[in-house]
Amino acid sequence: MSTIKSITKPAIRSAKCAQRLEELTPGGVNSSFRSFIEVGGHTIFFSHAQGSKIFDIDGNTYIDYLGAWGPAILGYCHPQITKACQEAVARGPVFGAPHELEIQFAELLVENIPCIEQIRFVNSGTEAVMSAIRLARGVTDKDKIIIFHGSYHGHSDSVLASRIPPASAGITAGSAEGTLLVDYNNLDALEKCLAENKDEIAAVLIEPVAGSMGVILPEPGYLKGVRELCTTYGALLIFDEVLTGFRIAFAGAQEVYGVIPDLVCYGKALAGGMAVGAYGGPKKIMSELLPYGKVYQAGTFSGNPVTMAGGIETMKLLSNPEVFVRLEKVSKRFFDGMQKEIDKLHMPVQLQRAGSMFAILFAEKPVRNYQDSLTINSKQFAEFFHYILERGIYLPPSSIDAAFISAAHTEEEIDYSVEVCVEGFRKSILS
Ligand SMILES: Cc1ncc(COP(=O)(O)O)c(C=O)c1O
Repeated sequence: MSTIKSITKPAIRSAKCAQRLEELTPGGVNSSFRSFIEVGGHTIFFSHAQGSKIFDIDGNTYIDYLGAWGPAILGYCHPQITKACQEAVARGPVFGAPHELEIQFAELLVENIPCIEQIRFVNSGTEAVMSAIRLARGVTDKDKIIIFHGSYHGHSDSVLASRIPPASAGITAGSAEGTLLVDYNNLDALEKCLAENKDEIAAVLIEPVAGSMGVILPEPGYLKGVRELCTTYGALLIFDEVLTGFRIAFAGAQEVYGVIPDLVCYGKALAGGMAVGAYGGPKKIMSELLPYGKVYQAGTFSGNPVTMAGGIETMKLLSNPEVFVRLEKVSKRFFDGMQKEIDKLHMPVQLQRAGSMFAILFAEKPVRNYQDSLTINSKQFAEFFHYILERGIYLPPSSIDAAFISAAHTEEEIDYSVEVCVEGFRKSILS
């Protein structure tokens, strides 16, 4: 039994702020994922975060499994990262011109990531993926890309076509036509699509672990098969490692699954909480970017000193193998603890995990592709979400998106989370 006990006070100030921000900002959020529209109720407003905890403006403390949607792999406000970023701000937060921290950060990535000979830093995962797609089209002189039903690659036009119904209005037919969709974990479907569109596919863009539809792992041999098909049909393979990079291992899915893509995209955990994205690959592809090549990409804040400083310290900390050993240990403890009770009570809950990124899915069967993800019971999830929120545990307000454990989570926090989650399963499913 954990000694932590936590019942939150009513979030009165948060409720008022939610109402006010809703008047000023569509939906009361600056990113639609943050909305409580799926779980109901009003959003919680936070004042600060430290380690594994996040604090709301009504004086409540939560054990945090949102992880800022991925960046907080070392927990919030790691002192080494905070210090380096503060010093960088004081020297000048943005120059719009080269500086030495860009070299240091790039060297750390080029030396440690198998597929990277050159890298470009941008400001978000969206920018990284959008730029990598343009580069792939420019290099191959082909227009189409293949992506996977239910995957998420940020909010640029050509990749928002991955949901059915389409995730957004306002996307031109041309953008959507250039994006072909196949099922994840199905090599036959990919091969058929590549064969039918022979000589037209610039790239296959894949999340090696499908994080945004329930943390779906690739089936054994699947990513190797995708690699071989891309080589056979002359399409570039782009790994979107915005979630998996520096999360499931230092070198992400490339390291875990031993498959080397032609281009890789990063964001999230790369820079200790600074706004970041990056994409990289071999020199012969990357050198096609302007100023020497013919593919355009730019950005006022790209490679700014504060982000680079955060990234360098994050890489130094993550390159200690102990960090990933600890992440695996606490993540396993969390999952084993919940699974034991789920099995005992035969509850329809699926726990899916890749390292410290996980999903708790209210479904009868494991979720293996987009179709399976449609079977998730979001009403049960909403009840569960509020039950654990009231007991000081913060999960993403989504029945399907990945949640995250950080290296700062203690075993005691994990044990408390197991107790509360198991009670939450009982309440939302059995009562
Ligand atoms: C796999 C993947 N790619 C790209 C993105 C977009 O990253 P950002 O939100 O930093 O633009 C996300 C964001 O959740 C993601 O999960």
